[in-house]
Amino acid sequence: MTEALPFDERYIPSLNEYLQYYEKSLDDLEGFWDGNARQLKWYRYWDVVLDRSNPPFYKWFVGGETNINLNALDRWVGTSLENRVAYYWVGEDGSRRTISYRELFREVNRFSFVLKEFIGVGKGDTVTLYLPMIPELPISMLSIARIGAIHSVVFSGFSSAALAERIVDAESKVVVTADGFYRRGNIINLKERVDEAVAMARDRGVDVEKVIVVKRLDGNVKMHMNRDYWYHELMAEAPQKVYVPPEKMKSTDILFILYTSGTTGKPKGIMHSVGGYMTYIYNVFKWNWDPRPEDIYWCAADIGWITGHTYIVYGPLMHNMTSIMYEGAPDYPKPDIIWRIVEEYGVNTFYTSPTLLRLLRKYGDKWIENVDLSSLRILGTVGEPINPDVWKWYYEKIGRNACPIVDTWWQTETGAAMLSPAPGIALVPLKPGSATLPLPGIVADVIKEDGSRSEPGEKGYLVVKEPWPGMLMGIWGDPDRYINTYWSRFSDPEKGIWIYYPADYAVRDSDGYFWILGRADEVLKIAGHRIGTIELEDAIITHPAVSEAAVVGAPDPVKGELPIAVVTLKEGYTPSEELAEEIKETVRRVIGPIATPKKVVFVNKLPKTRSGKIMRRIIIAMLHDRPIGDTSTLEDPSAVEELKEAIESLKKSF
Ligand code: WT7
Repeated sequence: MTEALPFDERYIPSLNEYLQYYEKSLDDLEGFWDGNARQLKWYRYWDVVLDRSNPPFYKWFVGGETNINLNALDRWVGTSLENRVAYYWVGEDGSRRTISYRELFREVNRFSFVLKEFIGVGKGDTVTLYLPMIPELPISMLSIARIGAIHSVVFSGFSSAALAERIVDAESKVVVTADGFYRRGNIINLKERVDEAVAMARDRGVDVEKVIVVKRLDGNVKMHMNRDYWYHELMAEAPQKVYVPPEKMKSTDILFILYTSGTTGKPKGIMHSVGGYMTYIYNVFKWNWDPRPEDIYWCAADIGWITGHTYIVYGPLMHNMTSIMYEGAPDYPKPDIIWRIVEEYGVNTFYTSPTLLRLLRKYGDKWIENVDLSSLRILGTVGEPINPDVWKWYYEKIGRNACPIVDTWWQTETGAAMLSPAPGIALVPLKPGSATLPLPGIVADVIKEDGSRSEPGEKGYLVVKEPWPGMLMGIWGDPDRYINTYWSRFSDPEKGIWIYYPADYAVRDSDGYFWILGRADEVLKIAGHRIGTIELEDAIITHPAVSEAAVVGAPDPVKGELPIAVVTLKEGYTPSEELAEEIKETVRRVIGPIATPKKVVFVNKLPKTRSGKIMRRIIIAMLHDRPIGDTSTLEDPSAVEELKEAIESLKKSF
């Protein structure tokens, strides 16, 4: 394993100091979280910190009442901190907006009024948000939370079909969207996609009654009478200085749902709680970024993913931070746009993904030579394992050997980081490519198939052995799937043992550092985004020519992994370039551009077991030049020969 780096200027690493804090947190786990939750505002404190009576349905801060608005907004208003900037918004077209906490508070109160009084959204209702990176997205999220409703944000890069599926599953009667937005100079017409999605949802029995449309472009879109309303017109009708008291929510109520991919075709609606999520992310944000009052902070993710929920919206607002919110692509108009923004605003903390770093590194260092990056103090990364050489580039070229790299391992399900350095407590010595150690209160381990602990250097499965406040409450509408997906693999309910299984391979080194090795299930990480292979296969077989499809991930130097589709065709169809393009187009249409396969490979037979299960591992082994292993269960061994040829010629085309 790589040696720890010599380090540092402002942060002097001290493993012992960190470990002392960490171990103390575990001495009395519930007392630890109790104390941390009390740093926040609640309407009523809890009777029980953690209710373990019905595992794995753990309940945090039972009896507690709060609203995340109290801590993200109301807390700052009427104090000297209300004029701090909450967001510097940077549009792709160069436009700028500055929003203070006071202004954000006003907007949120007015939109809360609009949702409640004009639209009729009530406590517990779900509202789907399909918005680009504009301030109205956090405004909508906060407003929905304020009135006790549940938001479900859908990434604006998803297709109308993907949006429809999420509207139907969440049974949303209200959607908030925009007319469109800019992407690499092109106009994306979001409203059109919403119209399609609403029609699809209706066919599946869910009637969207109201659509609120934010005007980001020229507003030249079709509006449906008595269903579609302009955001700015509704806001103009609300009283200027209305105050809507934040609804008293139970700690165990749902704050939001966010869909993520799993190993079946149907995305999972991950539910996060009001009190537990709030408590966890408040603390983790502090440990990750060591926030200071004068900081300028930038998490360059999209709010459509959990990273944006936690690290662009709720986390920074609960710390009265000033954030950059950026609408555009990371390399448009030029590959230095990110660093230009860092320079312009004097960004101190910057958080992004390995994919973005690989992309910007590829353009060459000439794009960073003429920008001043000296304001940077802490750098973060998330979403996939970071290659040690990319880590070093980030550390040396962007961080000028002076900024800790905070590699945060976590998931949609965990609420915020779980394994990562914590410069806000005490920095541990860093190792390029390792997310280092578990955060306080997190009992993580690496275990083998049989449940015993892996030896140092021995690959195993990452697990979490104690509940934590930021954990998901469950899967919307599917409690069994919650148990089966996360709590079945290594738990032993009869012995009262409950172990959370994130489905990542990991290894620990002799210093106890964790190294994440990638997904252990049939889920891909495409540019850090999580897409299930079955979801992709389901999309591909909607093409009329396709009989069967097997999707696997192939390594990609920038995006980490890209899908390769191996397909068989129905009688009467022959393979062609055009057909391959059509199949790619189908995936774009059904899921969205991020999921587009890199290549489509045609074969006569897929490698399948006698029971009909597709053996993806054989395709994966061929792609990686690894031995294909045991093929005794193969239904038809001739499938392997044909496949091998097809994969070999595919590899030549990379
Ligand atoms: C999966 C979760 C959590 C925000 C973004 C992704 C992978 C995440 C790291 C990291 C190695 C990582 C894991 C995890 N992952 N962070 N620092 N090092 N792998 O959220 O879409 O729910 O994906 O992303 O495979 O299980 P997500």
